[in-house]
Amino acid sequence: ALRRAGNIHWQHLDVDKTARARIKGQQPRCLWFTGLSGSGKSTIANLVDKRLHAMGYHTFILDGDNVRHGLNKDLGFTDEDRVENIRRVAEVAKLMSDAGLIVLVSFISPFRAERRMARDLFAPGEFVEVYIDTPLEVAEQRDVKGLYAKARAGQLRNFTGIDSPYEVPEAAELSLDTVDESAERLAQRVIDYLLD
Ligand code: PPS
Repeated sequence: ALRRAGNIHWQHLDVDKTARARIKGQQPRCLWFTGLSGSGKSTIANLVDKRLHAMGYHTFILDGDNVRHGLNKDLGFTDEDRVENIRRVAEVAKLMSDAGLIVLVSFISPFRAERRMARDLFAPGEFVEVYIDTPLEVAEQRDVKGLYAKARAGQLRNFTGIDSPYEVPEAAELSLDTVDESAERLAQRVIDYLLD
């Protein structure tokens, strides 16, 4: 990567992200939601987004299913493609935080190394990892999109939790148990953490 960037020099910009965020009365943040398919990432991220927006914060959501329709439509679900999916999304989230936004990122992001890579793009305290802790049995039981059934039937390969790994976060800022608490309460916990 270094070699490819050989003759490219970083262009310093005078207006920095703190200045861009300040005119919105906020600080840049990246809220990174990770968890199994059907764990409730999008539901909780949406609730958090809606409440922050109502409070007057300038936010944006990057969601796996949506980004895979556009920017990342060339990528599938092999380990290699997931790594590239997360690399691109982390860079986009970084650009959005440079623009002063509070960015909510909702991707399975199954690998620790890529979540670490994403975290390392941000200043200390800016990156908030939110683990949506839903056991496989529960996500599979819900099977909102019918994908677990397809994966079990062998009609869908490389499905997370079935024949593709999910590495549980070890040091997420927040761990949200969706079995015992409602999405509304969990969304409020994220907001409380942010405002603290
Ligand atoms: S990843 O692992 O971070 O690159 O995945 P992500 O970009 O978040 O995409 C996950 C959504 O894609 C659908 N889908 C699959 N998920 C997991 N494994 C396989 N093989 C797969 N094929 C399609 C699925 O709807 C995921 O959405 P969520 O919202 O997570 O349930």
